[in-house]
Amino acid sequence: MPVAWREALSVSNNLIDADHQHLLSLINSFEEIFTADRPIADLLAAIGELRDYTHTHFAREERMMLALRYARYDHHKLAHARLIEQLDQAAKPLRELGGVLAATAAALPEEIRDNLVGLLRQWLLEHIMGEDMQLKPLLGNQSKNFAP
Ligand SMILES: [Fe+2]
Ligand SMILES: [Fe+2]
Repeated sequence: MPVAWREALSVSNNLIDADHQHLLSLINSFEEIFTADRPIADLLAAIGELRDYTHTHFAREERMMLALRYARYDHHKLAHARLIEQLDQAAKPLRELGGVLAATAAALPEEIRDNLVGLLRQWLLEHIMGEDMQLKPLLGNQSKNFAP
């Protein structure tokens, strides 16, 4: 089931909110590849795109935290590094299937598939609700377009 962005996920900054919306749509299109049983090569491309944009987004958020002298900067930055590591770990079995790129998503063992889909679904939402949301009071004192 696709995950929809909702106002409750807003951290009072237009750039960050737009990033989160884009990440959610990337995750939704990733899941769609499984549903439509497209080639594993498409999954690899989608996970690469998700990883690249996650990097861009984390860097942006970290710049903002520094500019706002956010007290939990180190903790939050570490959480970002862990998320990237988790994403890489989850994508590893896909990369190892490089020799069978003609296979489709349905050919993947269920465990790999459930791990990936489950991880991506929770991955971003839990981080937004748990960590990013703590930036809201600080970001709320700035212009909605604050972009240091
Ligand atoms: Fe974020
Ligand atoms: Fe974050």
